[in-house]
Amino acid sequence: MEVEIVKYDDLGRGIGYIDNKVIFVPKTVVGDIVLVDIINNKKNYLEGKINRVIKPSLKRINAICPYFNKCGGCDFLNISLNDSLDYKLDKINNLLNKNHINYSVKEIIKSDKEYYYRNKISLKIVNGEIGFYEYRSHNLIVVNKCFLVNENINNIISKIKLLNIKNGNITIRINYLDEMLIIIDSNDILNNIDEFINNTKVIGIIYNNKLIYGKDYFIDKINDYQFKVSYDAFFQVNSYICSKLFLLINEHTLNSHNIIDLYCGVGTLSLVASQNSDSVLGVEIIKNAILNANENAKLNNINNVKFICDDTKKIIDKITNKYDTIILDPPRSGVDKKVINKIIETKINKIIYISCDESTLMRDLKLLNEYYQIKEFKILDMFVNTEHLESFCVLTIKEERTIQNLN
Ligand SMILES: C[S@@+](CC[C@H](N)C(=O)[O-])C[C@H]1O[C@@H](n2cnc3c(N)ncnc32)[C@H](O)[C@@H]1O
Repeated sequence: MEVEIVKYDDLGRGIGYIDNKVIFVPKTVVGDIVLVDIINNKKNYLEGKINRVIKPSLKRINAICPYFNKCGGCDFLNISLNDSLDYKLDKINNLLNKNHINYSVKEIIKSDKEYYYRNKISLKIVNGEIGFYEYRSHNLIVVNKCFLVNENINNIISKIKLLNIKNGNITIRINYLDEMLIIIDSNDILNNIDEFINNTKVIGIIYNNKLIYGKDYFIDKINDYQFKVSYDAFFQVNSYICSKLFLLINEHTLNSHNIIDLYCGVGTLSLVASQNSDSVLGVEIIKNAILNANENAKLNNINNVKFICDDTKKIIDKITNKYDTIILDPPRSGVDKKVINKIIETKINKIIYISCDESTLMRDLKLLNEYYQIKEFKILDMFVNTEHLESFCVLTIKEERTIQNLN
């Protein structure tokens, strides 16, 4: 079937029409005329796969990655960086509009690196071959290089075969000194570990959650802060953007006194926010991350922060109006409704909401909309060349609510 791509959807897929029925085709560019194979025929829409580009859009560029057309990792290697940034701005503004949230986002903060920016890769191993799953499938695409990850990670991918893993998952994380942690989940016995680590900067191997070589953490550095990061603790994947996120946190906590940082990970944003405030309380569910957070306070000589290992849903009942600022940086599932309700009830003045999932962000903003107004909203291009983005949103309590409170 021949289709003209007329716009993009929220997942970065091209949209066209066949007999008035909408079709979604990944890896297409607005303006393309493509021959598509229909892979899913639903009642209200079709899903297609490019068979051939009949007439390329003027916006189409050659993807630098040979795996691009099949791989489920990147969405936008076939358009310019500027066009991908425009897409992200449009996406957020359309979503705000659709959800009746009155704000127009103007600024997108770029990553210093367009390629090789990621400090982490997760690969599948199937029948001894290493790679990524094909877009929305479990077919393995064998890869020996990814244009999004740090080049030192790429250099080690070809050595993974030495370990003789038949099936499993392998994650490689790297820090600012190019030291690497290798995290493997597999039922196979590992071989040739010495040969694998020889001439590399691998400083730890964790196999089925057990440390079998070196250390199970590394120290990373962002701006002037040092962070101990356990192999299983979250850390922002794009350190260049993380550095800019820290500047935004600093700017927006200048007048804060008591801050609570829910979903605090290894304490990154808590430590930055502590510089301007009297106290910060960080809450995080992963035990190793909280152990790291406590050590990170000491590592950076910061003594006005406290960390608690708990579920935000459980701790939120104890929150009082002592806190004037709350930082929310939840996982993709967003903030629990109970937490949102408690923030509204407690009348916390300022919310700094950082999100990597626009749909849950919009859901939560809608709940807050009656009580809070958006003061600033910026996009951070954390996930360059993909449809994903990081939102940085500052909300303040509405004036009339404060007045009501006084009465
Ligand atoms: C997007 S990360 C943000 C981490 C941190 N703010 C940073 O910038 O590194 C979300 C964090 O929330 C934690 N988390 C997920 N669900 C949670 C919950 N119910 N209660 C507390 N923490 C949770 C995750 O373990 C993860 O560390």
